[in-house]
Amino acid sequence: MIYLGWIVRLMAAKTKSNKQKEEEAPDTEVITMEEQLEPEATIEDLPGVGPATAEKLREAGFDELLALAVMSPGDLAEQAELGEAVAGKIIQAAKKMANIGGFVSGSALLERRREVQKLSSMVQSIDDLLAGGFETQSLVEVYGEFGSGKTQIGHQLAVNCTMPVDQGGFDGDVFYIDTEDTFRPERITQMARGHGLDPEAVLERIHVARAYNSAHQMLLAEEIKRMSRGINVKMIIVDSLTSHFRAEFVGRGMLANRQQKLNRHLKDLKQLADVNNALVLVTNQVMSKPDAMWGDPTKPIGGHVLAHASTFRLYLRKAKGGRRIARLVDSPNLPDGECVYQVCEEGLRD
Ligand SMILES: Nc1ncnc2c1ncn2[C@@H]1O[C@H](COP(=O)(O)OP(=O)(O)O)[C@@H](O)[C@H]1O
Ligand SMILES: [Mg+2]
Repeated sequence: MIYLGWIVRLMAAKTKSNKQKEEEAPDTEVITMEEQLEPEATIEDLPGVGPATAEKLREAGFDELLALAVMSPGDLAEQAELGEAVAGKIIQAAKKMANIGGFVSGSALLERRREVQKLSSMVQSIDDLLAGGFETQSLVEVYGEFGSGKTQIGHQLAVNCTMPVDQGGFDGDVFYIDTEDTFRPERITQMARGHGLDPEAVLERIHVARAYNSAHQMLLAEEIKRMSRGINVKMIIVDSLTSHFRAEFVGRGMLANRQQKLNRHLKDLKQLADVNNALVLVTNQVMSKPDAMWGDPTKPIGGHVLAHASTFRLYLRKAKGGRRIARLVDSPNLPDGECVYQVCEEGLRD
């Protein structure tokens, strides 16, 4: 069904069923973030959740308190096939036990920020611009014109994500939602070789699904929760976030509907970033603003919904001599600025 898309094994170039994947799970030794931390309460510890309800919750992809705590009763009832009153009680209990209800102190936030990891682009100028790299628990939006190099950044970071932590990677897996049919395993192979990595091993850790329309794209994001069990997900890429939405919801009358759906999608993505201590990277197109009197007459689409959801926005453009410029826009804690890099056969370089 829908989630079959995720199981595309790039090297084998054949689709496996969900069942086969689960059977394979025991011999994949992945240490998840939770295992590295102190043992935490599980969903079975929730009052009123017996084995049958726990099973239903797990089947619907809710295997962590935090994932439950951020749901609405209506959505949880529908997704886990529970009564809405039961769902409401579970959410309330999860909120208490996951300790996310209400305000937290600045020092507690600082503690949570300490878990943030940074993914190196392996390009000094880009890492400098981002004070070390692309942060987990954040949503990074990369926007620019066609051919400005958005997909190249997605490919490069996917490769880097699989690299060991002490080399600037996350030693993690990547889920890649491809809406424009521009994911190329051959390009991953080139970039993996560029870092002296085994291309096949890298491709094994990048799970790609082609999204055929915006509804499918949203479902795929929801499926990541389910599909990622036993996998150390450290990065989710949506390339492009907005192309289907833009093509399908045309005209003023559709705008509110589009923004509402996009908002929902972004929330799902942000939740994945928080629960997995992972990085979410989305690409976005630009539209030209012919009425702009000065400055660059292009701006990202997606409106306020996307502007608020992104923690960092990077604006890419081409410059003379094959050079590329990335501009950091609207960062919560870093100064705006620009950097220069190149796209070579081996990948992004200074
Ligand atoms: N193998 C390669 N070697 C060098 N440059 C490449 C390679 N593949 C793609 N590029 C560069 O990347 C550009 C395409 O960028 P892309 O990321 O697809 O743009 P966008 O996603 O923003 O539309 C090409 O025009 C080319 O300059
Ligand atoms: Mg692209």
